[in-house]
Amino acid sequence: MKNENKVSTYENPFLPEPARIVRTYHLTEDVKFFQVRIADMEKALSFKYKIGQFAMISVLGAGEAPFSISSTPSRPGLLEFCIRKTGIVTEAIFRLKENDMIGIRGPYGNGFPVEQMRGNDILITMGGLGAAPLRSVLLYCLDNRDQFGRVILLHGAKKPSEMLLREEFLSLKQRQDLECHLSVDKDDTGNWTENTGVVTTLFPKIENLVPSSTYALVCGPPVMYKFVLKELLKLNIPKDQILMTLERRMKCGVGKCGHCAIDYIYTCLDGPVFTYWDVIHMRELI
Ligand SMILES: Cc1cc2nc3c(=O)[nH]c(=O)nc-3n(C[C@H](O)[C@H](O)[C@H](O)COP(=O)(O)OP(=O)(O)OC[C@H]3O[C@@H](n4cnc5c(N)ncnc54)[C@H](O)[C@@H]3O)c2cc1C
Ligand code: FES
Repeated sequence: MKNENKVSTYENPFLPEPARIVRTYHLTEDVKFFQVRIADMEKALSFKYKIGQFAMISVLGAGEAPFSISSTPSRPGLLEFCIRKTGIVTEAIFRLKENDMIGIRGPYGNGFPVEQMRGNDILITMGGLGAAPLRSVLLYCLDNRDQFGRVILLHGAKKPSEMLLREEFLSLKQRQDLECHLSVDKDDTGNWTENTGVVTTLFPKIENLVPSSTYALVCGPPVMYKFVLKELLKLNIPKDQILMTLERRMKCGVGKCGHCAIDYIYTCLDGPVFTYWDVIHMRELI
């Protein structure tokens, strides 16, 4: 029977869209990759998002949580996520297998300012789970290679087994149109052939950077920001061209609950992407 009272996701922002897990596998011991397809084909193909946006993922009986979209909008139809097991919702997501269903609502957040970034050099610095949102940017730039200048990737991890998407980045390293530098703090394998040292030890490898035409994108563990920002300022990159994606505790994702607010800034609406200029006086954010 037709339900006349049924509301669409567009009318009710809290209504999730059923989606199927197409592929899932471990990236590291506590991080899993999920490739997901919205069940309704029309909605799957018309799910428009920007690089740097996030989605709320729900599991029946467990709840929902925000996750950065790791896929690129230049490849529509499938959504990808890198999810670390930390608590109730993420443990429930970890138990799911291919073909299981989840709920998705979104996309939310401001995302990266692609229009402003076009025509400029892009310097991406990622550490740990920071690879989740910044992979989306990297793949987008590579899929639209003629729209950007140099694309430089600096990726750091504690050790090779903890480097998210290690194989993918190692294979991207073969591309001539990407300057890709990978580093681990410590090599516990004996066969790591890339750089060893914290991610900032990769900065001297960047040659002839033109700061005025460079956008620097950063995402990683809190400790990383302080040191990476120092390097970016040393390179004279303008503070409003340093872009960071920052996490806060979020509940609704749509500016209704106030969980993510700092100084009247709702990070789910005004973020998660901020310029260094935006947050310079907001100690709580970085
Ligand atoms: C915009 C945004 C994007 C995100 N993207 C990703 C992503 O791509 N991949 C990913 O794995 N995670 C991401 N997160 C974090 C993710 O939302 C949390 O890990 C998740 O909400 C934890 O839910 P839970 O029910 O499993 O844990 P809970 O049971 O709620 O908590 C378990 C533990 O984790 C802590 N915790 C929970 N959420 C956070 C948080 N946001 N920051 C710090 N500590 C937290 C709690 O204090 C507690 O100690 C993102 C968060 C935001 C706001
Ligand atoms: S998460 Fe509810 S207002 Fe931002």
